[in-house]
Amino acid sequence: MTKPQQKLGRLVKAPENFLAKEDAKSPESMRRKFLVASAATAGLGLASAARAASNPVGGKGDPNILTLPEHSVGLGAPVAANGYGVPSKYEKGLQRRESPGLTRVSAASVAFTPLQGTFGIITPSGLHFERHHQGWWDIDPSKHRLMINGLVKNPKVYTMDDLMRLPSVSRIHFIECGANTAMEWGNVAVPTVQYTHGMVSCSEFTGVPLSVLLEDCGYDKKNGKYVLGEGADGSSMTRTIPMSHALDDVIVAYGMNGEMLRPENGYPLRLVVPGIQGVSWVKWLRRIEVGDMKWATKDEAVHYIDLMPDGMHRQYTGIQECKSVITSPSGGQMLLDKGFYNISGLAWSGRGKIKRVDVSVDGGKNWRTARMEGPQHAKAFSRFNIDWVWNGAPAILQSRAIDDTGYVQPTVHQLREVRGTRSIYHNNMIQSWKVAESGEVSNVQVS
Ligand code: MTE
Repeated sequence: MTKPQQKLGRLVKAPENFLAKEDAKSPESMRRKFLVASAATAGLGLASAARAASNPVGGKGDPNILTLPEHSVGLGAPVAANGYGVPSKYEKGLQRRESPGLTRVSAASVAFTPLQGTFGIITPSGLHFERHHQGWWDIDPSKHRLMINGLVKNPKVYTMDDLMRLPSVSRIHFIECGANTAMEWGNVAVPTVQYTHGMVSCSEFTGVPLSVLLEDCGYDKKNGKYVLGEGADGSSMTRTIPMSHALDDVIVAYGMNGEMLRPENGYPLRLVVPGIQGVSWVKWLRRIEVGDMKWATKDEAVHYIDLMPDGMHRQYTGIQECKSVITSPSGGQMLLDKGFYNISGLAWSGRGKIKRVDVSVDGGKNWRTARMEGPQHAKAFSRFNIDWVWNGAPAILQSRAIDDTGYVQPTVHQLREVRGTRSIYHNNMIQSWKVAESGEVSNVQVS
């Protein structure tokens, strides 16, 4: 890790930031102020430089320190003022957002996770992306039922109470919509990481392994080759899952990040299908059928298929291949200073664990290996960081992830060679962010 001898560069985050409003509006005046302050302290250590740089009143001292604020002298709010805690009012810029003009009907749309503003590997439940085909519902759990039928000896109906009395597991997994990064197949389309990559989130899910329920119903071990998951919403979301997968790590989940699922994410019950595209994670799960062949439902025969360059479609390509993205600095942000920046991002693979992430600041000519920040789970987010001292020259930031199968995340050109440019789903190309001399960061595609 670089010792922070360099000036710590400041970043205007997008869309939320902690700079004073007038400074964020005028990065040029902010930068000038900073340069004057640094010149005055040339030759001094970081601590004095930082002190002077953050001294807005020319040696008179920072009123934020010198004038005792009300919160240091008064009585704070009482306990349980919020029976269920909410984020600070200063964080209200950090929101799930709908991409303008993406879909005409917001009940069949997507709200993207603000990846630029989250830390670590867990997505806060309230910021988990949403993708609904026919809106979301807050379903009464006392009336919700899960039926298991088809090729089983004992078809059964479970209440939520039944399910929650069974042995449970808790596992951390990412969920990524197959359509994440869909708009970038042909060219650069959207400005920020929230819209290029925000159809992915990562949570701890709790529930009953599907294998336990299948055993409980006596599934047909000889002919039961597939299961079908069906949702209770109007979209009749139905997806085929191979039995090998169903018995491996699929969970019938009611919990997310230590609490019940949020209604938007399938309360009170959803399928968790680790490593597989989000559409198979059926929400408001009401039925599982065991069968001997694929069902070819509308959401697997017509939608969520890959249009190949020769005009043919590939079906049942559910695995989300290894992918990564730099979340800071990223599109729409602005670097105000030359100096030290912590480049940070996320990597994930539907096939297992992330082995390594490389980062380039020159558009892929040279690569350095990033530090992995915290715990690394299979089919989950891994957070990476790497030090970077920006010298003020234009730069192109990229990350390239490698998973424990040895698969290397492809460049945009490698991916297009195989897949063409007319697909919607399964775009895992290396993302490039250009840092201009002005410090502005934008979405670009380079070889
Ligand atoms: N399940 C039902 N019943 N209805 C839906 O519309 N959308 C699917 C899947 N499960 C959907 C569903 C799609 S396309 C995705 S990407 C994920 O749910 C999104 O899950 P999330 O909204 O919890 O992020």
